[in-house]
Amino acid sequence: MSITNLMIDEHKKIDEYLKKFLERFGEAHFKFFEEKLREHFGMEKGIIFTLTEKFLGKELNEIFKLKEQHKEILVGLANIRKKLPDGAKDLIQTLVKDLSAHTRYEEHFFYPKIDDMLDEEQKSEITQEIRKIL
Ligand SMILES: [Fe+2]
Ligand SMILES: [Fe+2]
Repeated sequence: MSITNLMIDEHKKIDEYLKKFLERFGEAHFKFFEEKLREHFGMEKGIIFTLTEKFLGKELNEIFKLKEQHKEILVGLANIRKKLPDGAKDLIQTLVKDLSAHTRYEEHFFYPKIDDMLDEEQKSEITQEIRKIL
């Protein structure tokens, strides 16, 4: 399986957790979503970004950009958490917009690009590492 398809599946799960939170606005749902998103970013950084740069033998600007977006989104989450259960509507709107732009960029540009750049063996090493922690 390509890294792109595996990540599309993971993003769907994250979207479901976000949807549950947006439907009910409960703090427990928020915490669960936040935890899952943190884990997802950690997996991207710790496995996909790290191994891709190792295999390619160079740093990629796109990875730098994605890591910065992760940081910004996590700051946004922390700010929302402080204002729950009320008063976080604008922050939540921004988060939903930023996260969806981030995810679209990964699914339509970044992951297809590294699927092209890496060979089958490298890709299967990455997807196996990911499956170990899913
Ligand atoms: Fe990401
Ligand atoms: Fe992602």
